[in-house]
Amino acid sequence: MSQRPVLIASWNGAPATSHAASLIARSTPMLDAIVAGIALVEDDPEEMTVGYGGLPNEEGEVELDAAVMDGPRHKAGAVAGLRRCRRAAALALEVLRRTDHALLVGDGASRFARQLGYTEENLLTPKARDAWLAWKASLSERDAWIAPDEGKSRFGHALDAGHTESGDGAKHAGVPRTWGTIHVSGLDANGDLYAATSTSGLSYKLPGRAGDSPVVGSGLFIDNDVGSAGATGRGEASLQNCVAYETVRGMETGLSAQDAALAALRLLARRTREPRLLDAAGHPDFNVIVYALRKDGDVGAASIRDGYTCIVQRGGSTATEPTRALFPKN
Ligand code: GLY
Repeated sequence: MSQRPVLIASWNGAPATSHAASLIARSTPMLDAIVAGIALVEDDPEEMTVGYGGLPNEEGEVELDAAVMDGPRHKAGAVAGLRRCRRAAALALEVLRRTDHALLVGDGASRFARQLGYTEENLLTPKARDAWLAWKASLSERDAWIAPDEGKSRFGHALDAGHTESGDGAKHAGVPRTWGTIHVSGLDANGDLYAATSTSGLSYKLPGRAGDSPVVGSGLFIDNDVGSAGATGRGEASLQNCVAYETVRGMETGLSAQDAALAALRLLARRTREPRLLDAAGHPDFNVIVYALRKDGDVGAASIRDGYTCIVQRGGSTATEPTRALFPKN
């Protein structure tokens, strides 16, 4: 089944997996290749859920979260609340390789980036600033902010630029709100597993809010004898249900990658109790998407709701595949 190397990524991961595959073909180690692939997406100003151009926190500052994991060493590196450095996944890899730590946060993460010579820059693009201003203007009719015409920004950008993860985020009155993220899991030619997750997190979050992406066990997890998993979507739900960890444990019990992802989401749904988070049917009214890769090369992805895809790169070819929904519409 395997045709190693194998990569599985979130819907927005096609540039990352194809770049990673081309690097792997030239003997770049899998984790370096995944991080280099993710850097393409972190650099893309049109991708408003990851890296440069990501949607900011409620104060208009972009804060990034990322984690990487090395299966054979069973070591992770992560950064949370990283400001003014677009290369969150690369910096997470520096944490993994250069330190005894697993997670650096806030000012400490930004200082670490400066110490290592990473470029310091404003990550807020005009388009992301537009979206943030539109969000502020939509908050209340009794504050001093004037709402723009629906769908149009002060600076001429369209506000619904299609950068939400087809339901991973939502748009209200033309204002995008997202939990979008990139995740890539990979199995190399030796049968070892590696993974990375990178995000600008929940749009308009409270400053300092970290989601699931930098947290080992939630945004990603590897047991090198079993498999790798990662999550995108509502980070608070993934955090409180250890979604990536549960998925890997499911694969350890013998479930297929897709069934393990589905089982982790079933647990999450069962434990979601707050009425504000439930729809009329009593199901979570948000989405979490789980990507899973087993040690034998089996891949699968599941989502709470329909309409999601993942990227699978195997034996030199890339395919976009639907995720299996826990609560399909029909
Ligand atoms: N899954 C990304 C986040 O919630 O921050």
